[in-house]
Amino acid sequence: MKPHYPIHYRAAELPSYNANTLRAMLSLRITEKEIKSLGAGQLLVKMEAAPCNPSDIAFMQGGYNVVKALPAVPGFEGCGIVADVGEGVDSEWIGKRVSLFIQGNEDGSWAEYVVSTSEQLIPAAQELSAEQASMFFVNPFTAWGLMEMVAAHGASCFVINAAGSRLSEYLLALAKKNGVAVIGIVRKEQTAAALANKGFAGLLVSTDNDFAAKLSDLIAKYNPTIFLDAVAGEQTGMIAGLMPFNSKIVVYGGLSGKEISGINSLQLIFKKLTITGFDLNAWFANTDDKRKMLAAEHLSALIAEKKVQNPVSITVALDALVQGLRHYLGSMSEGKMLIRF
Ligand SMILES: NC(=O)c1ccc[n+]([C@@H]2O[C@H](COP(=O)([O-])OP(=O)(O)OC[C@H]3O[C@@H](n4cnc5c(N)ncnc54)[C@H](OP(=O)(O)O)[C@@H]3O)[C@@H](O)[C@H]2O)c1
Repeated sequence: MKPHYPIHYRAAELPSYNANTLRAMLSLRITEKEIKSLGAGQLLVKMEAAPCNPSDIAFMQGGYNVVKALPAVPGFEGCGIVADVGEGVDSEWIGKRVSLFIQGNEDGSWAEYVVSTSEQLIPAAQELSAEQASMFFVNPFTAWGLMEMVAAHGASCFVINAAGSRLSEYLLALAKKNGVAVIGIVRKEQTAAALANKGFAGLLVSTDNDFAAKLSDLIAKYNPTIFLDAVAGEQTGMIAGLMPFNSKIVVYGGLSGKEISGINSLQLIFKKLTITGFDLNAWFANTDDKRKMLAAEHLSALIAEKKVQNPVSITVALDALVQGLRHYLGSMSEGKMLIRF
């Protein structure tokens, strides 16, 4: 049934950026908004669920490459049902469940309704629950893009830190499919224990006294020529120093909040070490629809076949957003925080 305009709905709103995560979180307010009508080319999505990712936290801190005009509705991904379409959009979309990826200046996914365009969404595969469909863009496609880099470099093994993350779970599943070994690094013993039987070739805790010696042994054994780095800071330099000849470091996150340090210049010159970044937005911009759809098919299959679990550690209503965020930040490896609308 076509909705009646104006539509009044609720959304989370960030009044100002704040480098202090707690203050940024506490400043979030729930506000009433209005959609007067749909413009040409637009789709109205009634939201079902939206997660919080590290990029949402970085966004609230003002430390992400997407900076919206304030006050802003956060949330880079989510899923919902198409409730209406504007002029020029196929009415076949109406009633379909879609996954959304919103990276522009427009309102984000932490809202009961989102006005979107077809470039920002893909139909959710039938086998995906609303929960899975809401987390189908950011981590799965990043893992896919990173695996493309692993393959292009011809690596038979790679090292990954923050190995308790959802992204790492996708990467591990894709690596297994491609016969690539994975050396995982986490920062807590409890995370290592939870990952013990997941299929890593080696799993290390970065706070162990003999971490460097153990990593050296694993590197000698498996010859990983890619290091996928989500942490940065001094860990990048420390691990770079142990990597073999012709290795590549791909930095795709900055969870430590610190600048990369400790990379020896001789390594770059004589050991042919290279360092680069990965940005999902750039991957999307440079990838044609056919390749994206192929990736989506493979990634949905990983979920349907339960090769990834993609756990949610807490589900909250919009009103309890801050409580959910606190929980997520205290135990990120346990799973995502999901807002259900
Ligand atoms: N470049 C891109 O386009 C792109 C796209 C998607 C994701 N990413 C990045 O990928 C990373 C993982 O994202 P996700 O959504 O999969 O994460 P997630 O599931 O929310 O989990 C975050 C993980 O990071 C660990 N962690 C947090 N702070 C850390 C620190 N200072 N040192 C070491 N480990 C730390 C957590 O471990 P604890 O349980 O010990 O806290 C947890 O395992 C993030 O850095 C994110 O920004 C980048």
